[in-house]
Amino acid sequence: MTLTLDEVRDAIVARENPTLTMAEVELHATTVHRILELKQQHGVVILGHNYMEPLVYGLSEKIEQGDSLGLSRSAAETEAEFIIFNGVRFMAETAKILSPEKRVLIADREAGCSLADNFGATEVRQIRAAHPGVPVMIYVNSYAEAKAECDVCCTSANAAHIAMALPGDELIFVPDLFFAQNLEEELQGHKRVIYPGQGNGGHGAVCEVHEQFTLDDIRAVRNGFDIPPGHPTRRLYVHWECRPEVLREADFYGSTTQISNDIAQHVAAGSLERAFIASECELTSNLMEEFPTVQFWTACSVRCSHMARITLEKILPILEAIDAGDDLQQWEVDLPPKVIEAAAAPIQRMMELSAAS
Ligand code: 13P
Ligand code: SF4
Repeated sequence: MTLTLDEVRDAIVARENPTLTMAEVELHATTVHRILELKQQHGVVILGHNYMEPLVYGLSEKIEQGDSLGLSRSAAETEAEFIIFNGVRFMAETAKILSPEKRVLIADREAGCSLADNFGATEVRQIRAAHPGVPVMIYVNSYAEAKAECDVCCTSANAAHIAMALPGDELIFVPDLFFAQNLEEELQGHKRVIYPGQGNGGHGAVCEVHEQFTLDDIRAVRNGFDIPPGHPTRRLYVHWECRPEVLREADFYGSTTQISNDIAQHVAAGSLERAFIASECELTSNLMEEFPTVQFWTACSVRCSHMARITLEKILPILEAIDAGDDLQQWEVDLPPKVIEAAAAPIQRMMELSAAS
C-alpha cells in the first residue's frame, strides 16, 4: 500500500533521529514520498550503505541496508530488475558484477573512494610480479579492473577469515596500507602480509576519511568523553581502515555492520551507556536512531565527500526516468562482459569463503 505524503512525514518524525530537524523533514518529505511511491510502483530495490545520511538511508528497508559485504549479498540475491545503489561507485560495480543481468544505477557516478581511485590493475600487476606465486587479496574498495587481477576479494567484515583460508603462509594485500598492517596484527604471526611500498616499487592508498583519526585524537576522546579503556559501559569503536595505532587503542574494531552488531549486543545486555565512533560521521547519525538509549559521540567533520554525493535530489530523477521509460545511461553502472567475468571470480571466492564462516 502506498503511503500518503502525511504518512511519510509522520513516519520520518516517528524515527526520532536526533540529527533530523523539523525544518529538514518539511523540506524533504515531498521528495522522500515521491521516491518511495515510485520505488514501490516499479519494484525497485534501493540498497543503502551505512554511511548514507539518515533521509537517504531511510529509503532502504532494513534488509536493504548494510556494510559492503551485506550489500554485496543483497545485490546477489535480489530478483528486482532495477537496483539503485546508494553508496559509492565501487560498491555499485560489485552489485553489477554479482548481478550482471540487473540494471544497477547510482545517483552520481563520480562518487569515488580514495582507496579505489588510487590503485588500479597496473599496480596490482606490479606487486604480483615482485612476489611471484603469492596469493593476492584485494579489498572490496577497488574497481573491477583491479579486482580482475586478483585471487580473492575481502571486506572489513571478513578479511582475517579469508586470509587464513588462503594457501601458504603469506599473502599480498592491496590497496589499503593501514588495513594491511591491521590485518597482519590480527593474524598474530600466522601469516605474513605483504603490501605496497615495502621496497616492491609500488605505492598503496589509505582512506582519506579514516586517516584523519590520529592516536592523539583518540586519547583526547577517551579523556574528553570519559571513556577509559576497559570501562564496563563505555566503548570506543574504530573502523578497520583507521591507523594501526588507533586500532590498538580501540575497545572494538570492525566493519560498519560489525560495529552496529556489537552495539546491539551490549545494548541488549544493558552494558552500553556511551560510545565514540571513529568512522564516517553519518554512521553515527544512523546508530543514534537505532540505539536511542546510548549516548553517542563522533567527529562531525569527518564526512566522506564521495558518499555525500548521494542525495535525495539526485535519486528522484532516476526513479522518474524509470517511470517515464527514459534512457538511464547517465546513472547506469555498466562494465564490459570480460571485466565482469574476470572480476566476478575473486568476489565469488570471497562469498564462498565468507559463507563458510
Ligand atoms: P564497510 O565494509 O564497513 O561498510 O566499509 C566500507 C567503507 O568504505 C568504509 O569506509
Ligand atoms: Fe572510501 Fe574512505 Fe569514503 Fe569509505 S570512507 S568510501 S574507504 S574514502
